[in-house]
Amino acid sequence: MRLLPIAVLLPIMVNSSDLNSCNRCHPIIYSEFEQSMHKKSTIKDDKIHQAVWNKHPLKAKGEY
Ligand code: HEC
Repeated sequence: MRLLPIAVLLPIMVNSSDLNSCNRCHPIIYSEFEQSMHKKSTIKDDKIHQAVWNKHPLKAKGEY
Protein backbone atom coordinates (compact mmCIF):
# COMPACT_ATOMS: atom_id res chain seq x y z
CA MET A 1 0.00 0.00 0.00
CA ARG A 2 3.02 2.31 -0.25
CA LEU A 3 1.74 3.54 -3.60
CA LEU A 4 -1.61 4.64 -2.21
CA PRO A 5 -0.51 8.16 -1.20
CA ILE A 6 0.85 8.79 -4.70
CA ALA A 7 -2.31 7.34 -6.26
CA VAL A 8 -4.43 9.67 -4.15
CA LEU A 9 -2.24 12.75 -4.04
CA LEU A 10 -0.90 12.90 -7.59
CA PRO A 11 -4.26 13.54 -9.30
CA ILE A 12 -5.02 16.19 -6.66
CA MET A 13 -1.61 17.82 -7.17
CA VAL A 14 -1.98 17.75 -10.93
CA ASN A 15 -5.53 19.11 -10.83
CA SER A 16 -4.88 21.81 -8.30
CA SER A 17 -1.69 23.21 -9.73
CA ASP A 18 -0.54 24.51 -13.08
CA LEU A 19 0.99 21.57 -14.98
CA ASN A 20 3.61 23.96 -16.36
CA SER A 21 5.03 24.18 -12.87
CA CYS A 22 6.11 20.51 -13.16
CA ASN A 23 8.11 21.46 -16.23
CA ARG A 24 10.48 23.57 -14.14
CA CYS A 25 11.97 20.56 -12.35
CA HIS A 26 10.94 17.62 -14.57
CA PRO A 27 11.59 18.91 -18.13
CA ILE A 28 12.24 15.52 -19.77
CA ILE A 29 9.24 13.78 -18.20
CA TYR A 30 7.14 16.83 -19.00
CA SER A 31 8.06 16.80 -22.70
CA GLU A 32 7.37 13.05 -22.90
CA PHE A 33 3.97 13.65 -21.29
CA GLU A 34 3.20 16.53 -23.69
CA GLN A 35 3.43 14.15 -26.67
CA SER A 36 1.73 11.18 -25.03
CA MET A 37 -1.70 9.62 -25.52
CA HIS A 38 -2.19 10.24 -21.81
CA LYS A 39 -2.11 14.01 -22.40
CA LYS A 40 -4.57 13.69 -25.28
CA SER A 41 -7.02 11.52 -23.32
CA THR A 42 -8.76 14.31 -21.41
CA ILE A 43 -12.40 15.30 -21.90
CA LYS A 44 -11.17 18.44 -23.62
CA ASP A 45 -8.88 16.72 -26.14
CA ASP A 46 -10.49 13.30 -26.69
CA LYS A 47 -13.84 13.55 -28.53
CA ILE A 48 -14.89 10.00 -27.59
CA HIS A 49 -14.09 10.57 -23.92
CA GLN A 50 -16.03 13.83 -24.14
CA ALA A 51 -19.05 12.18 -25.83
CA VAL A 52 -19.24 9.46 -23.16
CA TRP A 53 -18.86 12.02 -20.38
CA ASN A 54 -21.65 14.17 -21.82
CA LYS A 55 -24.05 11.23 -21.30
CA HIS A 56 -22.73 10.25 -17.88
CA PRO A 57 -25.18 10.70 -14.96
CA LEU A 58 -22.50 12.22 -12.71
CA LYS A 59 -22.04 15.12 -15.12
CA ALA A 60 -25.49 16.47 -14.21
CA LYS A 61 -24.43 16.40 -10.55
CA GLY A 62 -21.27 18.36 -11.35
CA GLU A 63 -19.03 15.50 -10.24
CA TYR A 64 -16.38 13.58 -12.15
C1 HEC B 1 10.73 22.57 -7.26
C2 HEC B 1 11.01 21.42 -8.10
C3 HEC B 1 9.89 20.45 -8.42
C4 HEC B 1 8.66 20.73 -8.95
C5 HEC B 1 8.08 22.11 -9.36
C6 HEC B 1 7.97 19.46 -9.11
N1 HEC B 1 8.79 18.44 -8.68
FE1 HEC B 1 8.32 16.44 -8.70
N2 HEC B 1 10.10 16.03 -7.77
C7 HEC B 1 11.08 16.95 -7.48
C8 HEC B 1 12.18 16.27 -6.84
C9 HEC B 1 13.48 16.91 -6.35
C10 HEC B 1 11.81 14.91 -6.76
C11 HEC B 1 12.60 13.76 -6.11
C12 HEC B 1 13.71 13.30 -7.01
C13 HEC B 1 13.24 12.40 -8.08
O1 HEC B 1 12.60 11.37 -7.79
O2 HEC B 1 13.52 12.69 -9.28
C14 HEC B 1 10.50 14.79 -7.37
C15 HEC B 1 9.82 13.61 -7.50
C16 HEC B 1 8.59 13.48 -8.13
C17 HEC B 1 7.88 12.23 -8.30
C18 HEC B 1 8.35 10.86 -7.82
C19 HEC B 1 9.29 10.31 -8.87
C20 HEC B 1 9.83 8.94 -8.49
O3 HEC B 1 10.47 8.34 -9.38
O4 HEC B 1 9.64 8.51 -7.36
C21 HEC B 1 6.73 12.50 -8.97
C22 HEC B 1 5.66 11.51 -9.41
C23 HEC B 1 6.71 13.93 -9.21
N3 HEC B 1 7.85 14.49 -8.68
C24 HEC B 1 5.70 14.58 -9.86
C25 HEC B 1 5.63 15.96 -9.99
C26 HEC B 1 4.48 16.66 -10.57
C27 HEC B 1 3.23 15.96 -11.15
C28 HEC B 1 4.75 17.99 -10.49
C29 HEC B 1 3.84 19.15 -10.91
C30 HEC B 1 2.51 19.19 -10.30
C31 HEC B 1 6.08 18.13 -9.87
N4 HEC B 1 6.56 16.87 -9.58
C32 HEC B 1 6.70 19.33 -9.65
C33 HEC B 1 11.05 18.31 -7.74
C34 HEC B 1 9.95 18.99 -8.23
